[in-house]
Amino acid sequence: MPEALRERELEYEKGSPIIEMVELTKNYGRHTVVDHLTLSINSGEIFGFLGPNGAGKTTTLLMLLGLSLPTSGTVKVLGLDPVKEPLKVKSKVGYMAENMGFYGDMSAKENLKYVAELNKLSDVESKISEVLEMVDLKEAADKPISAFSRGMRQRLGMAEVLIKDPQIVFLDEPTLGLDPAGINTMLNFIVRLPSERGLTVILCSHLLHLVNRVAHRVGILQKGRLLAQGSVKDLAEKTGLPDDLEAIYSHFFQGEGLEEKESVAIDKNLDEPKDKGDTASEEKAPLGRGESQREEENNKGPQGEKENESHH
Ligand SMILES: Nc1ncnc2c1ncn2[C@@H]1O[C@H](COP(=O)(O)OP(=O)(O)OP(=O)(O)O)[C@@H](O)[C@H]1O
Ligand SMILES: [Mg+2]
Repeated sequence: MPEALRERELEYEKGSPIIEMVELTKNYGRHTVVDHLTLSINSGEIFGFLGPNGAGKTTTLLMLLGLSLPTSGTVKVLGLDPVKEPLKVKSKVGYMAENMGFYGDMSAKENLKYVAELNKLSDVESKISEVLEMVDLKEAADKPISAFSRGMRQRLGMAEVLIKDPQIVFLDEPTLGLDPAGINTMLNFIVRLPSERGLTVILCSHLLHLVNRVAHRVGILQKGRLLAQGSVKDLAEKTGLPDDLEAIYSHFFQGEGLEEKESVAIDKNLDEPKDKGDTASEEKAPLGRGESQREEENNKGPQGEKENESHH
């Protein structure tokens, strides 16, 4: 199914840029963790955001959400500046954080209700049942989260993200800790988000073979700098490597895994709209992990700033 999924789903009709970063930079003290990042994400695409631990992926997402303030550069999300209008941005962008927290003594339904109220959503009951259905947790709706398996928690996380009916979702390691079946379910769910819900997706993951299956384009970040971007196919052509994300990725991280190769920017997909592939439907499987709300940036001072705490 992997290849089949890829063949069938990876074509997308290029939309207009929905996220635009220009020279986006974040310093922590003297440490530059996002370094003049210029990158556009188009509506309706699944963008794989890759890079080793500490490359700056999560920091970038936090800046896109207005949860961390850029040191310099600009960012627009849905035409909005997250620095000036963070609440508006957050109402339209779902964020499934690396570590989602739930209230263990509350049921799935109660957790969702809490999030819905925080977000001042209307029509809460019907939204809750819609998203629970979507992620296949209807049966478990009234169980306390403490009795949930990891896979169920991930799916609940996805329900939390989707309940706001966002236009964009950021998924930070959404398959973390899932078994192979859970991973497949999650990927099948993610791959349908653009066609079935009109969503644009940024997916951060270290599992390259998974990203390879679902992403229309990828960006490879190292020490805050974008080494390459483009579709796997275009990056393969450009580097002369096989059409395989793992091979391409390791090309940029040879030796110690940190030695940087010449940057490659491939924007073919940005210029050439592709035909929308037939969305033959895979098994309908739901998915998830929730959205946690990160705190506004706490401090921009030098050392040891503490921001991005997950909490509801
Ligand atoms: N609040 C903070 N204060 C100081 N440094 C920070 C803070 N948050 C992140 N960093 C540093 O910024 C760099 C980028 O971190 P970030 O979490 O964005 O990486 P990442 O690409 O998401 O990594 P991972 O793959 O491990 O999730 C790291 O060196 C990290 O230590
Ligand atoms: Mg991260």
